[in-house]
Amino acid sequence: MVPDSLHDSLHYKSMPTPTSPLKAVRGTRDLLPPDTALWNHVETIARSVFARYGFGEIRTPLFEDTQLFARGVGEETDIVSKEMYTWEDRARAQSEKAQSLTLRPENTAGVVRAYIEHKLGDTGQLQKLYYIGPQFRRERPQRGRYRQFWQMGVEVLGPVSSGAESPLRDAEVLEMLATLLDELGVKGWQLALNSVGSTEDRKRYNAALREALAPIKHQMCEDNQRRAETNPLRVLDSKEPADQALIDGLPKIADYLDEASRAHFAAVRAALDACGVAYTVNPRLVRGLDYYTRTTFEFTVPDGSGLGTQNALLGGGRYDGLSEMLGGPKAPGIGFAIGEDRLILTLQAQTEAAGGSAAEKKLDAYIAPMGVERNPAALALARELRRAGLSVEVGDGTFRLKKSFEAADKVARHIIILGEDEVSSGILTVKTFATSEQIKVERTNLNATLRG
Ligand code: HAM
Repeated sequence: MVPDSLHDSLHYKSMPTPTSPLKAVRGTRDLLPPDTALWNHVETIARSVFARYGFGEIRTPLFEDTQLFARGVGEETDIVSKEMYTWEDRARAQSEKAQSLTLRPENTAGVVRAYIEHKLGDTGQLQKLYYIGPQFRRERPQRGRYRQFWQMGVEVLGPVSSGAESPLRDAEVLEMLATLLDELGVKGWQLALNSVGSTEDRKRYNAALREALAPIKHQMCEDNQRRAETNPLRVLDSKEPADQALIDGLPKIADYLDEASRAHFAAVRAALDACGVAYTVNPRLVRGLDYYTRTTFEFTVPDGSGLGTQNALLGGGRYDGLSEMLGGPKAPGIGFAIGEDRLILTLQAQTEAAGGSAAEKKLDAYIAPMGVERNPAALALARELRRAGLSVEVGDGTFRLKKSFEAADKVARHIIILGEDEVSSGILTVKTFATSEQIKVERTNLNATLRG
């Protein structure tokens, strides 16, 4: 039986007629070749860098208990209060309970949940985990901002005895990011750094902010008036143009850090200086998630790098209390997530600006059978070459020679003509498009010719 709700939606009045094709949902998109080659290239480099720094991959579910994000990311954040895809999942059996589920809007909370659930802390070892995968936020879609987007992220966490709290971990993660962006060829990236202090520092700072906001909040936008009451720190990430001057005049968190947080931040900076990783300190960088403590950071790219106003390529920071917030043991940690969609847009825009194009890689060869009788032999030759590691496309014997040449020139570096003579003699005609050179090649030498 079709459940009522599904039944209703199937008969929804805007149901498309057969002439109006269905489209991808607003804020989602299909990634197609040749773009996907760049996505794979980026992921390959990221995996290689992460491996060199001792990270292993974690894959957590795409949906989780809604409570995980409410408790981890924070009820008052934009993510939790406005942007989550949440639904009531009905029980299907007596043994199941109805449950509120949410498509993950980010992956730090999920990783920390997995850390607690699998008692990874019991190993006593520092856990260095990375992930690559989609996240979901119901934001207003625009260039660089999607409702399904991809993140490549890492989390470093563990018991205090594993060194998880050390400022060296922060600096190492930041230095790794600098290396990754350089290896990917991202130009002009900038690192902005701040410390939001310990939970106690933040309490004192919150009180100071609340006090400073009280006499001026009525001059601010509605969102900021609400945040001034519920979570004053969030006022600092407001992008509302009319409120910027007032926000700049608010107390700075740096003046509320205790000695330990101050020393931690100084040590992070000293290690970055020693590695030659450049940064600027931005006192307003508190980040839009509630779990952050001490170090917070963002990497941005210059205007004209294809991101428009969405210039934050990645963001991250320390979250020393998150495990406890989720009911786990003390497990300080630090991590980041790169917006992969934004990274790809940046690489494409920067390549284009440099006069290049993300050139499509051509196949090694295109086999053109002369007549349908040659089709089986063409497939057999393709099998031989592909198994030898070459990339090969096979045409069709119904194609005229001209059509075969045109098709081959679009996708491959060489065309192999396979006529009756070629099949019987084992000597093939090969044309190289780049040089227009046409030669006869023994089948046994074909591999070497095509690689050239
Ligand atoms: P976040 O700043 O919310 O942090 O997201 C990280 C990055 O994901 C952003 O800098 C941006 O590049 C990308 N991003 C976010 N929303 C969208 C969107 N709607 N469309 C496209 N890209 C987007 C986090 O998610 C934290 N979990 C990062 C972290 C890991 N902190 C500690 N560990």
